[in-house]
Amino acid sequence: MIHLFANWKMYLDVNETSRLASELAGTSYDANKLNIVVFPTTLAFTEAEKALRGTSVAIGAQTVNWTPKGAYTGAVSAYLFKEAGSSYALIGHSERRHIFGETEDDVRKKFEACLDLGIVPVLCIGETKEDLDAGKREYRLKKQLMTAFSGLEAGDRKFFVAYEPVWAVGSGNPCDPNTAIEMHTWIAEELRQYTSEDVPILYGGSVHAGNVGSYISHHAIDGVLVGGASAKQETFFDLIRAMETP
Ligand code: PGA
Repeated sequence: MIHLFANWKMYLDVNETSRLASELAGTSYDANKLNIVVFPTTLAFTEAEKALRGTSVAIGAQTVNWTPKGAYTGAVSAYLFKEAGSSYALIGHSERRHIFGETEDDVRKKFEACLDLGIVPVLCIGETKEDLDAGKREYRLKKQLMTAFSGLEAGDRKFFVAYEPVWAVGSGNPCDPNTAIEMHTWIAEELRQYTSEDVPILYGGSVHAGNVGSYISHHAIDGVLVGGASAKQETFFDLIRAMETP
């Protein structure tokens, strides 16, 4: 199974989200080969969920809060997303970490809240350009994996990791596929310290229909997490077609 996770970020308003979700609901693809999950803006979550209900496309939250209910102005919890039909959640996306100041501790709490509720968390990890230039890529990834997983009792509950170098996200400058393959192999090795389960690892950062084949053709890369190219009907559907026939 190859995974296509579409992070619509804050690109689309409610009508645009509904439209894209309905178009997606009306397109056919081989759901035995391709697992499509969309992550719409919270405000349009319910509309997207309605449009996709009964299809093989799953839906997820772009971020969650860990306390189920209470005095948390502006927050939307994993519990509430679950109730609204969410089966996945992105955790620790680089825009959450670097624009909104999400800490490693926040990431851990969010990750655990999802596991506890039966939402599949997608832990996003990635080094910045500064880390890369300072030779700290592995150091950064190790630290992010350690805070999320150390002492965690995930049992056989499912989760994903997405390797998204921060400098490749939204930059039009994707990570060279050979380097991505190397990093995925390294991450899979690191994950063995924490779990005996097979954890699917997605690549993210400036993926589009023209380059997706060079990532997913290698077994170390289980799929892609796509932002920009997934938020427009034409480029999204091109991506789906490219992934069906890599
Ligand atoms: P991008 O975003 O595809 O626009 O680079 C990827 C992501 O943020 O997950």
